[in-house]
Amino acid sequence: MVVSRIGRTSEGGMTRLSFTQEEKAALELLRTYMEEAGLTVRSDAVGNLIGRREGLNTLAPVVLIGSHIDSVYNGGNFDGPLGVLSALEVLQTMEEQTIRTENPIEVVVLRDEEGARFSFGMVGSRAMAGTLTQEDLEHKDDGGLSIAQAMGQAGLDPAAISKARRPKESIKAYVEVHIEQGKVLEKKNLPVGIVSGMFGIVWLKFSLEGEAGHAGATPMNMRKDALVAAARIIQMIEREASRTETTVGTVGQVQVFPGGINIIPGRVEFTLDLRATEAVVLQRVEEAIRCQTELICKERAIQCQLEILQRIRPAACSEHVQAVIRKAFRKRGLTEFTLVSGAGHDGMQFAHLWPIGMVFVRSEDGISHNPAEWSSPKDCAEGANVLYETVLDLAGFRRSAQPRRQPEQPSI
Ligand code: GLV
Ligand code: MN
Ligand code: MN
Repeated sequence: MVVSRIGRTSEGGMTRLSFTQEEKAALELLRTYMEEAGLTVRSDAVGNLIGRREGLNTLAPVVLIGSHIDSVYNGGNFDGPLGVLSALEVLQTMEEQTIRTENPIEVVVLRDEEGARFSFGMVGSRAMAGTLTQEDLEHKDDGGLSIAQAMGQAGLDPAAISKARRPKESIKAYVEVHIEQGKVLEKKNLPVGIVSGMFGIVWLKFSLEGEAGHAGATPMNMRKDALVAAARIIQMIEREASRTETTVGTVGQVQVFPGGINIIPGRVEFTLDLRATEAVVLQRVEEAIRCQTELICKERAIQCQLEILQRIRPAACSEHVQAVIRKAFRKRGLTEFTLVSGAGHDGMQFAHLWPIGMVFVRSEDGISHNPAEWSSPKDCAEGANVLYETVLDLAGFRRSAQPRRQPEQPSI
């Protein structure tokens, strides 16, 4: 609730876009939390904030836990911060209980997960995985500012992003707690769930060029109305995405030019967020959409350009990490329930390098990317407790010197 005061909007939500003052203020607050938890804090070349708790074996690979604190436009309080704060709580608890682990543990706040500002996300995790390119940094925000420029304004050197790369052997596993953002856990009456994998994502930008004209003087059969073509395409997208139960398609941004009440729209730009559990299905639906878009535009003498903003393959969570999480569920007396994530998460950028795992916390009414986003404190605490057990297992719980509380039954 304290973190969510930063970037508060008049609509009751929160806008904390990447590389902005709001994000910086939130990162500064989290830095103080990390220091209070006794962590050694640093910021990497892309601006990921990292708090490290040393292992008994300082050279052992790191167990990485965390999430993001950037948001979508007018988003909610839980998407991202829950994972960061749960990770911090886990390490703070280990500190309070003087628990030592074999492997070092790091809490990470990953930069620009949402992609809301530049229509290109997971910047911090791509940099850590070593896949972020200079070309990627050319994605621009609505004001025409590129990621590289925004990084410069935030005091970061975009030419140095490769320094954020973490070698494959340096990380043992990545685990994230996140709100579910759907209704599955609520329907099952379960506080938490184990994630098996994440939908693949493609973000496309459609630019339709027709002809602006006089709304009164141009007969209906003599128009090249780009918006009518866009409307046909959007309906077709809904139809195509509905053909399978594992595909979802969303047109979330539409811009009409020149945008006058008495002007036939000459140009329309809109985006598509298309997702599917399987890469082949995603490809098939995308091809169908592209093919029919061409037909609709041809019929109406509209020029259409399609730009790929980002493409992220579906990612599977590691069987091993899932098994460790399941063990944590058993220890906590929880029903072991596995589900797929429709939302994208930073682990997708890591899955080809490191074993990843995720724990979902029940979302009230499944609402997310909305100020009404809510998960109960009890459910959130359960997510953090599962993370605690999971991390103790992955990082190798070794000993506890002079415990302040009972170490055998650690509980947050
Ligand atoms: C991020 O929340 C996404 O899935 O778009
Ligand atoms: Mn998120
Ligand atoms: Mn999100």
